[in-house]
Amino acid sequence: MTEWKTICRVEDIPVLGSRRVSRPQGMDVAVFRNSEDKVFALLDRCPHKGGPLSQGIVFGTSVACPLHNWKIGLCDGQASAPDEGCTPQFACKVDAGEVFLDAAELATLAIDLLAPRAGPGASTGAVGDQAVAVQAPHSD
Ligand code: FES
Repeated sequence: MTEWKTICRVEDIPVLGSRRVSRPQGMDVAVFRNSEDKVFALLDRCPHKGGPLSQGIVFGTSVACPLHNWKIGLCDGQASAPDEGCTPQFACKVDAGEVFLDAAELATLAIDLLAPRAGPGASTGAVGDQAVAVQAPHSD
């Protein structure tokens, strides 16, 4: 049976905006509210290059990433075509105006995904980012 963790009240989330939920391990979860007061939860990490979806603009049932404007579906975390990628989606529910997230998912889901690193040559761990093996120099 799902153990639900109380997060906040719906009105604590800005309309067409979000609120971040920190976790003991892993990246924050972004909890979004749309114009119809529906609430959604995604990992706060764009599938493109790790942008903070919590800083994006909500429209309909999507959020526009603030970095390169990819459109991410709030129901499933999928990027809209032609872009490809998916960010983890968290189960959430609203009961009597209170927002709840699945406690088990908060503790375990996507805790291995890293925040993007800044700076030249930084890897984001995003789709398309791959570690490159560096060969040892030749010796004669
Ligand atoms: S990081 Fe989100 S669109 Fe590029």
